[in-house]
Amino acid sequence: MKVYVSFWLPEAPLNALREKHDVTINDKEELPSADDLAAQLSDADAFLCVGSRVDRAVLDRVGDRLKIIANWGVGYNNIDADYAAQKGIMVTNTPDVLTETTADMAWALLMAVARRVVEADTYVRAGEFQGFKPFAMLGSDVWGKTLGVVGFGRIGQAVGRRALGFGMKVLYYDAVRLSPEAEREIPATYVDLDTLVKVSDFVSLHVPLAEDTRHLIDAARLSTMKPSAFLVNAARGPVVDEQALLEALRDGTIAGAGLDVFEREPEVTPGLLDLPNVVLTPHTGSGTWETRTNMAHVAVNNILAALDGGTPPNLVNKPATR
Ligand code: DGY
Repeated sequence: MKVYVSFWLPEAPLNALREKHDVTINDKEELPSADDLAAQLSDADAFLCVGSRVDRAVLDRVGDRLKIIANWGVGYNNIDADYAAQKGIMVTNTPDVLTETTADMAWALLMAVARRVVEADTYVRAGEFQGFKPFAMLGSDVWGKTLGVVGFGRIGQAVGRRALGFGMKVLYYDAVRLSPEAEREIPATYVDLDTLVKVSDFVSLHVPLAEDTRHLIDAARLSTMKPSAFLVNAARGPVVDEQALLEALRDGTIAGAGLDVFEREPEVTPGLLDLPNVVLTPHTGSGTWETRTNMAHVAVNNILAALDGGTPPNLVNKPATR
């Protein structure tokens, strides 16, 4: 059967696909245009979707043979999964394998912005380090502070667990509250979102992008954060109103931010690049060789299961029977 892959992936997972199927890979440096994608999917049985947007317009142009869109990523807001379901197309994602790696990245951003690692590195490289100065480049303590985690699914909990080693108090907010045993095990305390934002020294976002999480952190919420607090976003850019964040960082409403994702990727709101109190990374939350290769294996396994006539392990929608 024909499988289309929209961006380069490591050989090992692709070879597992090639053993059974006819695989076409986009070998360009950029993602295929909507027209190219629709053309490729006109006679494909499966699509391994690496960063492509699959909206209604694309789905209206795919061929009848398309059985599965296997997203390479845990977040699948790039795909209209409900509309795909109406057309009888399965959509899958790649959970679990990237949980710990993404949690590490949230912590990397948290530490980097609190301890001014990027600024300090730039200072040394610029030849400005002329000898130890007791009060130069000072940051904020991390240990012993309060971490507020918004969205306490797999990644949020992994971020929370890491705080134990820093002697931090962990607060969390999620639409679904954990069992008392699970809260004790991390340990973490449930609070409402407004309280979390108000009392935390670090607010780390781990919600998926949905209509009710778009601009969850807006100007009003930012204005209730402590002026000494930091915001970390390794989830999805539009969860934060980026213009409001820029203003909050500029006027000292909050102390700093660590951002791995942006509201209109790859664009970054003008002004953010000029601020020293923000650390910016290019959507590399799950970005290690090990994890990104494992994500490809998971996506491939979903396709193999679907093309074998089974239910893929990571199905996220309920496809109508054709
Ligand atoms: C994910 O897995 O959702 C990452 O953000 C890559 O898209």
